[in-house]
Amino acid sequence: MDLIFWSWPALTLALIVSVLILSLVRRSPFRGGGSAKNGNGTCHTTNENNTVKVLPSPARMPIIGHLYLFQGNPIIELTKLSKKYGDIYKLYLGSVETVVVNSLPLIKEVLMQKGSDFGDRPNFLRYSILFGDNKDNSLAFCDWSSVQKTRRSLARRFCHTGLFADRVETALQTTTDILMAHIRSDIGLGESCPNLKLNLQKACGNIFFDFFCSKVVTEWEEDAEFDRVVKLFDDIFWEINQSHATDVLPFLAPVFKQHLSALANMGTEIRQYVINRIIVPHAAQLDKDNPIDFVDILLTHLEEAEPKNRLTQDQVLYELEDFLGGHCAVSNLLCRAIVEIADSPGMSDKIYVKHFEQGNKEYIQAVIYETLRRTSSPIVPHVASCNSSIGGYPINKGTMIMINNYDLNSSHDLWERPDEFIPERFLLDGGNGRFKKPAHFFPFSYGKRACMGYQLVEKVTEGLILAMVKNFDITPLDNPTQLPIASVALHPNEQLRVKLTPRQ
Ligand code: HEM
Repeated sequence: MDLIFWSWPALTLALIVSVLILSLVRRSPFRGGGSAKNGNGTCHTTNENNTVKVLPSPARMPIIGHLYLFQGNPIIELTKLSKKYGDIYKLYLGSVETVVVNSLPLIKEVLMQKGSDFGDRPNFLRYSILFGDNKDNSLAFCDWSSVQKTRRSLARRFCHTGLFADRVETALQTTTDILMAHIRSDIGLGESCPNLKLNLQKACGNIFFDFFCSKVVTEWEEDAEFDRVVKLFDDIFWEINQSHATDVLPFLAPVFKQHLSALANMGTEIRQYVINRIIVPHAAQLDKDNPIDFVDILLTHLEEAEPKNRLTQDQVLYELEDFLGGHCAVSNLLCRAIVEIADSPGMSDKIYVKHFEQGNKEYIQAVIYETLRRTSSPIVPHVASCNSSIGGYPINKGTMIMINNYDLNSSHDLWERPDEFIPERFLLDGGNGRFKKPAHFFPFSYGKRACMGYQLVEKVTEGLILAMVKNFDITPLDNPTQLPIASVALHPNEQLRVKLTPRQ
């Protein structure tokens, strides 16, 4: 999961409309005040030294606040602001009081030391619309609660233990064979292999459906519903990786009515698929004593959990949907890795030789982490659940906290030649030793809201890149695919312009 914050076209429109409807502005739902306690009833003091520290902040405009500062890529703009205002500064994004945090010690303070003070999520209208008019249905966009704790612990048993590890291997094997057959037949259609992205999406979708639900689709062309649902998931993934005017200027919703209702329809369509094709058949054959997959675990929970800890049917349905949707993060990351490999001369052969001829199993992991570093996928914003502090600055309850990891991931002080794709930087002994990830690189975040899918990401991406490299030499075409800055999501219509040459 990740999020780019703002885009200039949306902002321009927001600016015009917001000035026109100035009179509609109401008090922001993000504003703090009230209790100084979080869900656990404890909070860090707002001012450790009894001195009043005021966060640096640029001049702001009425209604739009600091949105006028975002004229280019939002992450680059935030990084530029950090050079001027320091490692922590305050902005108003429309009505949303926001604190931007850039340095590792301050980021760790938010995510780890004071994780329980900053465990909530912003209240964006789109999150609510996508998840049945209640953002708390979503694992990634809900506020912290006991329900979230239960959801995470149910999933952890499945995702984070070796209990079901062989399921990933089996799912990978089954799907890899189908994927390779599709790519081989597509290569005849032209150098650039026109369906490559869609085929990678379907491969990841299939692996996730197989892993979580024991559902395998073998005839990709003939299953129109599978084709549709994979595309819908990708559209939604793109959507949640973009900013939208209504996120921070919610009174603009009527202006974007059409877009917002299209989102609601996408969510509903996916939900129908999950109910009809997955939940109903599973419920009919459920053996509570021998759950075979995640759907069985969820359905058993519905029947057997203590009532006070039991999720509702809706919560179970959305949890499953959230995990299935995780395949888009993997397919987009995989697409980026393929482009990076194509654009780095000799990289495809190098991975082949290191892995298959020299038996160096860590090189591929370094390739994945280097792809993640250059992706610099933003951390989903956190929100203060109580009055607290960061770096000694008081933070109001309800303040949105944006973590700028792009600054760290592209820093010339922390990385040698950060603009280049160099997997060796993650390997000890000058690039020949074991894999090691430095603490200042945390693509899956830290703390209580950290990513739950990182092991799947590693395993599935690794398996599919290796299958690609084993079967094809991956080299660039003229006019290569332009990868977006600080976003894992490629535009749904983006093609992967790489040349695949079958290995002998
Ligand atoms: C390219 C791949 C991925 C990246 C870079 C990534 C990264 C992240 C990040 C940065 C967060 C936010 C953490 C925070 O707010 O502190 C997150 C949350 C989350 N991720 Fe991932 N993720 C990826 C793929 C996946 C996959 C495949 C799954 C599921 C199978 C998944 C499940 C989740 C969940 C459930 C959360 C929300 C956790 C919570 O809010 O409590 N992610 N991810």
